[in-house]
Amino acid sequence: MSRTGYSLEVALADLIDNSIDAGAKEIEYGTLSVSGKIKYVYISDNGSGIQSISDALSIRQNPDNQQNSRLGRYGVGLKAASFSLGRSLILASRSNGDDQAACVEIEEYEKEYSYRTLPVSASEKFFPLVISPRNGTGTAVIIGRLEAMVPGSDQSQSALQDELNACESYLSMIFHRFIEKNRIRIYVANRESVAGFPYLYERRALKPVNPFGYSSPGDPAYPLNLLVDVGTFVVPIRCHIWPKQGSGRAEREQNYALGGGSVKWQGLYFYRYDRLVQCGGWAGLASTEPHMSLARVEVDLPPGSDGQFRPTITKDAIQNVSLITQALQMRPEFTRYRSAAQKAYRTKLPSVSAPKGVIEKKVISLPVIEAFRGKLVISEWGQKELSSAQQDAAMQLARGFLANRPRASLASNCLEIDRLIRRLLKMPIDE
Ligand SMILES: Nc1ncnc2c1ncn2[C@@H]1O[C@H](COP(=O)(O)OP(=O)(O)OP(=O)(O)O)[C@@H](O)[C@H]1O
Ligand SMILES: [Mg+2]
Repeated sequence: MSRTGYSLEVALADLIDNSIDAGAKEIEYGTLSVSGKIKYVYISDNGSGIQSISDALSIRQNPDNQQNSRLGRYGVGLKAASFSLGRSLILASRSNGDDQAACVEIEEYEKEYSYRTLPVSASEKFFPLVISPRNGTGTAVIIGRLEAMVPGSDQSQSALQDELNACESYLSMIFHRFIEKNRIRIYVANRESVAGFPYLYERRALKPVNPFGYSSPGDPAYPLNLLVDVGTFVVPIRCHIWPKQGSGRAEREQNYALGGGSVKWQGLYFYRYDRLVQCGGWAGLASTEPHMSLARVEVDLPPGSDGQFRPTITKDAIQNVSLITQALQMRPEFTRYRSAAQKAYRTKLPSVSAPKGVIEKKVISLPVIEAFRGKLVISEWGQKELSSAQQDAAMQLARGFLANRPRASLASNCLEIDRLIRRLLKMPIDE
């Protein structure tokens, strides 16, 4: 069951789905360390609590999932996503005033689906993780024995922390509609166990990242709303064209550069009950190429259409979308949309000369650290704005960060370093 095709971010999203289905308004995920070492990754909420731990741990469809608008479907996410992160799973849940807790080790679970119920005394230290609930209910899913992810050394500890940090933008995008509509708040936190109590060390709320959140469209005739009839369902689709972006990261609008190069963010975005399941890719409708980079298509899967458009078990893609793509292919509006998106991409931007003294091509992250021929240099901006003690601290942090990731290139980590430094120096993070 372990590592069943989940990446860290996809596993966290699947566990957050469960909290949303339980009606949680507040959800927190993060690390719980013991003596400075990350021992657990957890997700906690103030939802309705787990009604029956034995049902939650069985692999079977929850009959409630037949209702429209539940994000859960298959009855496997809790187990599969948790065991993709670590080899033990502790559940601590409060429902209708009852405290229940259980501990599941993967070896026993894989052999005979067995688990141990924990006495409240043994599980006490985990209950404070359940978000202080108004109605007295909530759940914490605590994943331990992280050795699959963290083989014990300090180096991999910081790699895990980096990986968790990298999940933030994905989760902010997947759940952006929920956060924008104030249906939920998601916090990312670090906690340290002090005398058995999960003391809160650091916590911040995720801000929504809307992949269609541009300032104005790249063509005034867009976005274009289409209703695509696929027989049993009518699928509402919105074709967007982003405005042409500058080539440097700092010149791009925030929600355009979603990480990992803009080309891969073109294509179809499938929402299922407001939760983004698939982000980009054309599913055969067009080829992914730079000229189509500004084209993003928002598709709202109709309620009750899971049988037709099947979410994968890991909920990061939708299968069987050919009915939608074929119908789109036939629409002349869609052909015009593709040409308009390409035209917007070819638009020449007025050239902006780089401020004097800035190393034009090699600047990756303007404000603090620049990668220049593989060396770390504090940017001119940094030299002006930071005291020499702050510059030293920034440089030390950047070196420490890179030392822990021997295979990572400086260029690909520049932004992450920049963010760490801004956090260290308590500077605003937005570019
Ligand atoms: N945070 C939670 N709060 C309350 N109940 C939960 C929570 N997490 C899981 N459960 C219960 O455990 C059941 C099993 O969860 P699991 O994620 O394995 O399956 P699912 O959500 O029903 O379907 P899917 O596999 O599609 O996620 C859920 O249906 C729900 O009843
Ligand atoms: Mg689930």
